[in-house]
Amino acid sequence: MQVVSGIQPTGNLHLGNYLGAIRNWVRMQDDIGDNGECLFFLADLHAISLPHDPVQLKQSTLEMTAALVACGVDPSRSVLFNQAQVPAHAEMQWLLNGTARMGWLNRMTQWKDKSGKNREGQSIALFTYPVLQAADVLLYQATHVPVGDDQKQHLELARDIAQKFNTDFASEDAPVFTLPDPYIPPEAARIMSLRDGSAKMSKSDPSDLSRINLTDDADTIMKKVKKAKTDPEPLPSELEGLEDRAEALNLVSIFASLAGISKEQVLVDYGGQGFGAFKPALGELLTESFAPVTARFRELMQDREALDAILAKGAAKARERSAPTLKAAYEALGLVRG
Ligand code: TYM
Repeated sequence: MQVVSGIQPTGNLHLGNYLGAIRNWVRMQDDIGDNGECLFFLADLHAISLPHDPVQLKQSTLEMTAALVACGVDPSRSVLFNQAQVPAHAEMQWLLNGTARMGWLNRMTQWKDKSGKNREGQSIALFTYPVLQAADVLLYQATHVPVGDDQKQHLELARDIAQKFNTDFASEDAPVFTLPDPYIPPEAARIMSLRDGSAKMSKSDPSDLSRINLTDDADTIMKKVKKAKTDPEPLPSELEGLEDRAEALNLVSIFASLAGISKEQVLVDYGGQGFGAFKPALGELLTESFAPVTARFRELMQDREALDAILAKGAAKARERSAPTLKAAYEALGLVRG
């Protein structure tokens, strides 16, 4: 098993990132034993596809590193690094640019959403972003990629690129790339905004009330949960009763995912009760789950040198791990490399 995944170091790590991806990173790291290796990275190269502040990016890269370690990513067992220290990512993207098709990228829903009505004004990096993402995983022969639902399409593209490259430039018995599989948690594939049950929880939502951040204290968490948009009905006792109640379904899903129980069980426990009772219970569960992580995060942020050292060590390993596939890709394309 080669487990590979990344997160952009923009803004805070939020509940959607945690339940959709990071918690699975840690589970896979803890379960993998001698069956393979986990590589997790800060997608800092992806972060320059939208307007950004360089000073902020540097700071966020360290903060996200601390956040991942605080969540349980263990740099002594997993390879933890930032893309910018591993030039193979950018190199491999260029090699794959020859294989990726404009039509494939044009179909990416994130490109459509993020570019909006102003496609002509977007950076080329935003358009080719999924090719860099393909490079990220193909470089390490990834088999499993733990992500939230919003990254599924990007991974399908990575598979298409790998397949076309193998067909065009490698023999059937010696493919250059492994086809990666997304690993998406069914119970938390898409955590929605607390303010709008039809939008996903996201770092880029202008309202901080829309998300729970790893760094929020207990009072802030409780305030956000209490302000979360809901409806006047009490919770139903069965799942069918949540149809067309996106906000209520989201809160029940978050509760179930954090408590490690099914949504049905949450409704057995809280069915018939109003949000006046359910919200404080959810707020407490969130606070209990995040408090130790937040404390550890603050501690880690005290020692910047230690964080730099974690990234430097991880990058050295990632450079080593990526070298054979990068070399194979150059050779397959007939490029003479020194
Ligand atoms: P990013 O930084 O937006 O998010 C990091 C991870 O969190 C998941 N996620 C969610 N899951 C459930 N509900 C939500 N509301 C939610 N919001 C975010 C994302 O699916 C992701 O798994 N392009 C990627 C970073 C990346 C990457 C990669 C991932 C770059 N290269 C290679 C996997 C493999 C991104 O912007 O994720």
